[in-house]
Amino acid sequence: MKTAIYPGTFDPITLGHVDVVQRGLKLFDKIIIAVADSPKKSPMFDVQTRLDMVNATFAHESRIQTLSFDGLLVDLAQTHQATAILRGLRAASDFEYEFQLAAMNRKLDAELESVFVMAREEYTFVSSSFIREISSMGGDVNALIPDAVRAYLPKEKKA
Ligand code: COA
Repeated sequence: MKTAIYPGTFDPITLGHVDVVQRGLKLFDKIIIAVADSPKKSPMFDVQTRLDMVNATFAHESRIQTLSFDGLLVDLAQTHQATAILRGLRAASDFEYEFQLAAMNRKLDAELESVFVMAREEYTFVSSSFIREISSMGGDVNALIPDAVRAYLPKEKKA
């Protein structure tokens, strides 16, 4: 049984994140989506709401477990017997940050592998902060978020 952990702030979860999970399910038997508290990012949604959105998105997927956490990722992975960290790469600009994160996690736990999947082209420009900004200004982001997330965002303005 190969288990990977997919950590993120998910403020909110986007179709880009969903794409990463779907790719991960081809590689692993089980994926734990771990919603980080991330107080330093001052998220728009509290951690329970972000977890609710993730749960609603993957309600029918039996190979996915979800949880929230506020400690070290490597500790969480050990507790849940996850052997890999799953992350998505959208563009070359993601690489430097992901490289640092992976290197630091490897320093903390040499047994834990970081595995990267390449995001689908149409999601390379998607980020949670764009979703927050556009929806708070009344723009339509429905093509970029899971259906279950729509109810949590401000309604778009009609033209
Ligand atoms: N599709 C869409 N958006 C994506 C994406 C994808 N495939 N991949 C990344 N993003 C976006 C996110 O939406 C987010 O956008 P935003 O900053 O505009 O809101 C941004 O890229 C990065 O966020 P995210 O993927 O949620 O990661 P993060 O940087 O917030 O999370 C953790 C980092 C949670 C993995 C890291 O802080 C962590 O491990 N924390 C636990 C504490 C710990 O162990 N620290 C030591 C780490 S070495």
